[in-house]
Amino acid sequence: MQRTVIVDALQRTDYGQKINVRGWVRSRRGNKNVNFIALNDGSTIKNMQIVADLEKFDDELLRQITTGSCISATGTLVESMGKGQTVEIQADEIEVYGTADPESYPLQKKGHSLEYLREIAHLRPRTNTFGAVLRLRHNMAMAIHTYFHEHGYFYFHAPLITASDCEGAGQMFQVTTMNLYDLKKNDEGKIDYSRDFFGRQTSLTVSGQLEGELAATALGKIYTFGPTFRAENSNTPRHLAEFWMIEPEIAFIQLDELMDLEEDFIKYCIRWALEKCIDDLQFLNDMFDKSLIDRLRSVVDTDFVRLPYTEGIRILEQAVAQGRKFEFPVYWGADLASEHERFLVEEHFKRPVIMTDYPKEIKAFYMKLNADGKTVQGTDVLFPQIGEIIGGSVREESLKKLLDEMAARQMSTRDMEWYIDTRRFGSAPHAGFGLGFERLMLFVTGMQNIRDVIPFPRTPGNAEF
Ligand code: 4AD
Ligand code: MG
Repeated sequence: MQRTVIVDALQRTDYGQKINVRGWVRSRRGNKNVNFIALNDGSTIKNMQIVADLEKFDDELLRQITTGSCISATGTLVESMGKGQTVEIQADEIEVYGTADPESYPLQKKGHSLEYLREIAHLRPRTNTFGAVLRLRHNMAMAIHTYFHEHGYFYFHAPLITASDCEGAGQMFQVTTMNLYDLKKNDEGKIDYSRDFFGRQTSLTVSGQLEGELAATALGKIYTFGPTFRAENSNTPRHLAEFWMIEPEIAFIQLDELMDLEEDFIKYCIRWALEKCIDDLQFLNDMFDKSLIDRLRSVVDTDFVRLPYTEGIRILEQAVAQGRKFEFPVYWGADLASEHERFLVEEHFKRPVIMTDYPKEIKAFYMKLNADGKTVQGTDVLFPQIGEIIGGSVREESLKKLLDEMAARQMSTRDMEWYIDTRRFGSAPHAGFGLGFERLMLFVTGMQNIRDVIPFPRTPGNAEF
């Protein structure tokens, strides 16, 4: 008989019909007449209740139906008398696909700690929590593609292997096929990358932006959505060595339009979660964070603050003067730490903040210089609980200013000529940003640790599974 997914089966009211469901057993309880099996197939956080009359099933079969085992159950769809569900299945036939020995199945009891579940990341999708997170993750990806598609953007695929270092941060993972036990060096004692696979030194990308700019200055509006890699040794609840980034890049827009886009886009994603994932959000809300749904609703309904960096520093200095203590110093020119960002967002404004016009020294070389010659048109979107969720900017479109800035930073233009060509030929005003997908996931799920919103987290010292 054809399988019905549980999310659909739970909607049905055609009682008396035959139905088949398949999934993993969450629990089995019962008395001497009847057993109740809670079955979950991943299509929804909700379980289907299978009622097994002991007269119809022998003990040997029922003993195999333990938490974690996989079964197929066929029977009659009936209205449920029990509380917690509207329909259930009176089973006629049960087939056990795979047993799960209760002595060794690692997800035996309910309420394992998130830390423990990280150690068994290969099994944690079987839990309610990770089922909810993974369904939300899928939905956020669909929201992102839908938003851009409906607004006339083209999905552009930036390469993952690159010979350039976009952010100039020197935090890249090298890609090589050279035998590390037998490295050939040239006469100057340097590694001879001409013998390497690509004939030069290559790494995994930290951002698709530079390639995205090439596409935007041809197709008008593009976005990338792919994995990025950073070998920064940041063991924090908000950093991953492998994370996914969404990077739209748009020709012919200015700073205020960029900020409008950032705000509209992020609200669209959150609204999508509230509209399409409310069962999973309700579960996470009840389980971990009682203010989650309220927080999501409030962000959708409030205007984000738009705050020049200089004004932000003034507010922070005022707070310090009034006795507020921060670990890191506050002064004009300082790169804000997450404690500063969170003070502005959570305590001072109590809503998301888009900070703009940063000192050029603390931002990347490609950001557009303001008329003051000191600040650049960068925009960071700062969120409650998260801190920076988006980093973006208007790009410097002047060839001369771009080259001057690269020279001032002693950046070699040798490997960047292809990028500089965008300014040489038909240069266009343009802007874009990068949203960290897992930072968005942190906000939407209310999870506290970024390791719990990606299936297999890669962090310093950990690349398991
Ligand atoms: O601010 P970032 O470094 O900006 C860029 O990479 C630009 N090229 C984006 C652009 O303008 N196209 O990174 C963008 C976002 C951050 O705001 C943060 O959300 C996320 O990427 N991010 C990380 N997320 C998880 N783990 C890390 N190690 C991250 N580093 C950045
Ligand atoms: Mg940034």
